[in-house]
Amino acid sequence: MFYSDDLIEEVRARNDVVDLIGNYIKLTKKGSSYFGLCPFHNEKSPSFSVSRDKQMYYCFGCGAGGNVFTFVMEYENYTFLEAVKYLAERAGIKLPEAEVTEAEKQARNRRQKLLDIHKEAARYFYYQLKSQGGANARDYFEQRKLSGETIAHFGLGYSNPYRDDLYQFLRNRGYDDGLLKDSGLVTIDEKRGAHDKFWNRVMFPIMDVNSKVIGFGGRVLGEGTPKYLNSPETMLFDKSRNLYGLNFARTSRQPFMIICEGYMDVIAMHQAGFTNAVASLGTAFTLQHGILLKRYTEEVLLAYDSDEAGVKAILRAIPILRSAGLRIRIIHMNPYKDPDEFIKNLGVDAFKERIEQAENSFMFEISILEKSYDLGDPDGKTRFFNAVAKKLLTFEQELERNNYIEAVARHYGIPFENLRKLVNRFGLTLPEREMPGENRPLPEKTGDRSGEYPEALLASQKLLLTWVVNDAGLLKKIRPWLGPEDFVHPVYQSVCRAVYESIEATGQIVPGQIINLFQEKEEQNLVAAIFNSDIAGIEDKNAREKALTETVVRIKRHHLDEMSRKIQDLSELQNIIRMKSDLQNLHISL
Ligand code: CTP
Ligand code: MN
Repeated sequence: MFYSDDLIEEVRARNDVVDLIGNYIKLTKKGSSYFGLCPFHNEKSPSFSVSRDKQMYYCFGCGAGGNVFTFVMEYENYTFLEAVKYLAERAGIKLPEAEVTEAEKQARNRRQKLLDIHKEAARYFYYQLKSQGGANARDYFEQRKLSGETIAHFGLGYSNPYRDDLYQFLRNRGYDDGLLKDSGLVTIDEKRGAHDKFWNRVMFPIMDVNSKVIGFGGRVLGEGTPKYLNSPETMLFDKSRNLYGLNFARTSRQPFMIICEGYMDVIAMHQAGFTNAVASLGTAFTLQHGILLKRYTEEVLLAYDSDEAGVKAILRAIPILRSAGLRIRIIHMNPYKDPDEFIKNLGVDAFKERIEQAENSFMFEISILEKSYDLGDPDGKTRFFNAVAKKLLTFEQELERNNYIEAVARHYGIPFENLRKLVNRFGLTLPEREMPGENRPLPEKTGDRSGEYPEALLASQKLLLTWVVNDAGLLKKIRPWLGPEDFVHPVYQSVCRAVYESIEATGQIVPGQIINLFQEKEEQNLVAAIFNSDIAGIEDKNAREKALTETVVRIKRHHLDEMSRKIQDLSELQNIIRMKSDLQNLHISL
């Protein structure tokens, strides 16, 4: 970590959680907490709480929770470092500069200048659209049913028909030929001089996730080729790592994203209220695109053209998206060509219906596969089911595989067992599992080992921590029995240690500070949950003591069992046995 813990703690302490979140969502005071509509899931009544005392937030609906860092990481999709920088700036804290080399400085400088050029160019195109010469372009957008609001939202513009207008404009702004050439917006050749790449086109600024313009797409007004012209790849613009519309879609707070084929589709979708639509930029979908999307969502819906090229593009995109770990469904657009046309003709509600009916990607692949066999012919039918069985083998997990076998069997009206046997037979006879590399899911994220522990045990441990953080006086009573090492989850161990230390040192706990010990969002959520769980409900003191004692015993006993399995030394083993028998008589009084 580049910044010291003290500095990070200072950044946290100087950003009040209620003030910060209040800038993003409307909060209403209720008792000692503030409540609002959770920005991380859809809800109608507020279950999102923010506490000034605890310096943390927690949603009782979806379990999102953490401190100021967690919030901006979740809301803005920042990394921890980005969150620190953002909040430091907000609080007026100066962070020490990282050492940078001269070369790095120059590259950064050049990058910034190219960004400036793109920003100026976007403004210029926008101005052209609004000016007298932009009448045709305005008509074109109107004919395509784009509202003024949409045009402004996406910063659409127009490049006029003069060959070097933008070039002259940017030169007058002080940018030299070398830079302008690198921007990809002009070409400069010895003989003919400089000319603009885009002229007489409607212009689509392409923005990165932070809404910085990094390139352009330009479309002819009406017919003509090429229909679309795009910026070349530059220092700023990497087509395989950017998606059109993602800067808006990433904050749409929908459980899935919709991938379309083109600029106009994305714009039409956003205008119709589907603000979770994105498109790749005149290139095929890449794994990098998939990984980028995975930062924001678990599921994608493909809304590609309904023609043959569209189907091909879908079949290519599916394995790529799958290997990024995304779930995929296919939206059917028939009888229309693309989302833009569909929505214009059938409207928003019809499209919503299509979203609900979107087809599972595996079933889609099978339905396409089916077309190359003659199912009316016994031989064709056999070969088709053999092909399907092989494909079903790509599901490594048995449960998942069986679910798909069931779905396929149901769809084609054949007995589940028959198909399962066929699949298993391939599993045994294939020398190597037929498993194209691209179909393999990425390895599980390392670090999160919660899956290894029994749910119930984790729940007990969480409950106990919740108990202690709500009643610091309990520490003295539990301390002789339980320490950090008795907790199985690394996060719980750290929390226990921090809570003990904090109570011993100051007699109290600031949850926001303890959340600070963790940098991963998932970990922060886990910790936040500890501080917001409910332990009320057991009114009777005796019953509470009993529950507390049982929880302590359960946790300790598990740890002792674990130890006795590993330990060889006889005297230590005797120790463990003694402790276990002590546990039998344990009673913790409140
Ligand atoms: N495309 C491109 N270059 C082309 C044609 C297409 O980069 N010569 C990209 C554009 O991003 C375009 C997408 O591929 O939006 C889909 O192409 P197409 O279906 O032909 O266009 P539409 O999106 O339907 O465009 P429009 O509705 O404006 O005709
Ligand atoms: Mn179209």
